[in-house]
Amino acid sequence: MHSMDWKESDAVKLLDIVTYPDKFLKQQTQPIENIDGQLQALIDAMGHTMYQAPGIGLAAIQVGIDKSMLVYDIQPPEDGHRLNVLINPSIVAREGTILSENEGCLSVPEFRADIKRSERILVEAVDREGNPQRIEAEGLLAIVLQHEIDHLTGTLFIDHVSALKRQMYARKMAKKLKQQ
Ligand code: NI
Repeated sequence: MHSMDWKESDAVKLLDIVTYPDKFLKQQTQPIENIDGQLQALIDAMGHTMYQAPGIGLAAIQVGIDKSMLVYDIQPPEDGHRLNVLINPSIVAREGTILSENEGCLSVPEFRADIKRSERILVEAVDREGNPQRIEAEGLLAIVLQHEIDHLTGTLFIDHVSALKRQMYARKMAKKLKQQ
C-alpha cells in the first residue's frame, strides 16, 4: 500500500521547508536502502508538514533530507487525507505533452508558472513497506509526480521557466529578505 488514511496528530513534528535559492535543493539525492523506524517517522513528519503548508506534494530534499523519497496527496481536502509515499521513484515511460496550469512549489514561495510536462507517465518505486509499486499517472497526478521526482535530481520547477523570469523572481526574493 503506497497510500493510507491519514489522521493529524500533535505528536508528529512539523519540519522546516528549505526554500529557493538554497543550494541544498540543487543536489542529486541518494537512494534509500533501509526502510526502518527512522524513515517511518520522517514519512509521518513529511505528511504532517505537507498538510499544514498546505501542499499536495513534498520531497524529502525540501525538508533537508537528501534521500530519494516523496509524499503526495491530490485528493480534495474535503474527502479527507490519503497520504501516498514513494521511495526511490523513477519515471520509466512518458507519453504526450501537457501544460501544467499555475504550477507552484512549497520551496519556491510566491511564484507560479505553466510548465511543459508529459501527459502520461509510468512510475516505478517502492512503498513504505518496501513493496514494489507501478503507477500509471495522467493529469494532475502525472504533473505532481513529475514535479516531485524532479526534486530528487535537484531540479526545481522554476528551472523550467525562462532565465529572465527566474532572475526576476530571484531579485524579488532578495529584496524581500533585505526588508525583513
Ligand atoms: Ni516542489
